[in-house]
Amino acid sequence: MHTSPSSRPGLRAGPAAAPVPRGGSTPPDSRGGRRVETYAHRGSSGMAPENTAAAFARAIAEGADYVETDVQLSADGELVIIHDVTLARTTDARRVFADRPPWNVHDFTLAELKKLDAGGWYAAEFSGQHILTLDELLDLLGDRVGLNLELKSPAVNPGLAQAVVARLRRRRDWIAPGARPRPLIVGSFDEQALREVHTRLPDVPVSLISYDVPASGRLADLAGWIFSVNPDIRRLRPEDAARVTEAGMALVPWTVDSPELWRWALDLGVDGMITNYPSALTDLLHGRAPVRGAAGVVIEDIRHRSPGDGAGEHAVLRNVSDQPVDVGSWYLRNQASDRIVVGDGHVIPPGGLLRVHTGPGTDGATAFWNSTHGDSAGLHRADGAIVDLYAYVIRAGGDTEKGRRPRRRPPLDPLVS
Ligand code: G3P
Ligand code: CA
Repeated sequence: MHTSPSSRPGLRAGPAAAPVPRGGSTPPDSRGGRRVETYAHRGSSGMAPENTAAAFARAIAEGADYVETDVQLSADGELVIIHDVTLARTTDARRVFADRPPWNVHDFTLAELKKLDAGGWYAAEFSGQHILTLDELLDLLGDRVGLNLELKSPAVNPGLAQAVVARLRRRRDWIAPGARPRPLIVGSFDEQALREVHTRLPDVPVSLISYDVPASGRLADLAGWIFSVNPDIRRLRPEDAARVTEAGMALVPWTVDSPELWRWALDLGVDGMITNYPSALTDLLHGRAPVRGAAGVVIEDIRHRSPGDGAGEHAVLRNVSDQPVDVGSWYLRNQASDRIVVGDGHVIPPGGLLRVHTGPGTDGATAFWNSTHGDSAGLHRADGAIVDLYAYVIRAGGDTEKGRRPRRRPPLDPLVS
């Protein structure tokens, strides 16, 4: 079990320490009083456009312990909050700067970046959101929430770690030990970048993001200065989770987006989870009503490969209530925030199923569901409320992990559509 970041975890090494009770008004979860923390991945990105003020404000309102986000450099050396190294997916750069493909973030000045809309791609109601600077983000968050700041792609943002250090030195209110209810944590896939931060700001906890948990020899070295390890939940094995905990570091996997995965991760002894749906995770941790079936309809299954019946890729919704449910204009989001809207006029009878076609039925680049590692789905009503979450994990060799989603596989008839 790790200690709280505010107790200088970066300097702690060796066997697991006793849990340190946290302050604040949030009650412990139901696992023997151990506190598991909620990290809002790119803000509350299942409910609002990632890495925008809307997503961060929502994460705070939903009770997240930390906001996780990504920082890069603009062409004129400003620190800006965006995940992808290009602007194409999450802004209207293709339209505003049509002659400047491939729209790399670091090719645009801050003034140019500020001309872009960073919310309309997600849903029309979020038009007008803009790319934030790091300073704007810090001002927005204040001391209402912790911050897990990822140095995104230092290889294509040379000088990023040094720039972040310089900026944080001018924001002592964010890095002074004990100055905040929850600290600033700096994360990266890039160990060298983390080293640079740790050397210059030894009081700031750092987190190593990875796909797999590092080998034991390397893990022992990391334990001397790394606060937490952030592995991909879909590749995390119980024995690897135990190695992180036994080495004395916090275990905070990404991106964990369904009740089944949350419970599975809790059983592994995680210290926190990075999720696109912090509200639903917080509800689960606090023993409140689960999201599943909140509006009478659940995601029964996702067929991420062509199932051989000609249906192509699709999701199956089930009405688990005793009333017909009109799901017209409801929508599904995958983990990458792509959206598929259910057409108008679809009413699922009690106990009935609806097949929602989501892709061409191939595993190619145009497939909606991820067939390499697995994916997650959020089912939203037309008003945006989340009513179910579903995740699947694809193991090496291509087998879908069913143990983490123990739901009965339905017959394919009768399907409404
Ligand atoms: O914090 C880990 C997670 O954010 C890494 O994935 O691609 O969302 O930055 P990504
Ligand atoms: Ca990130």
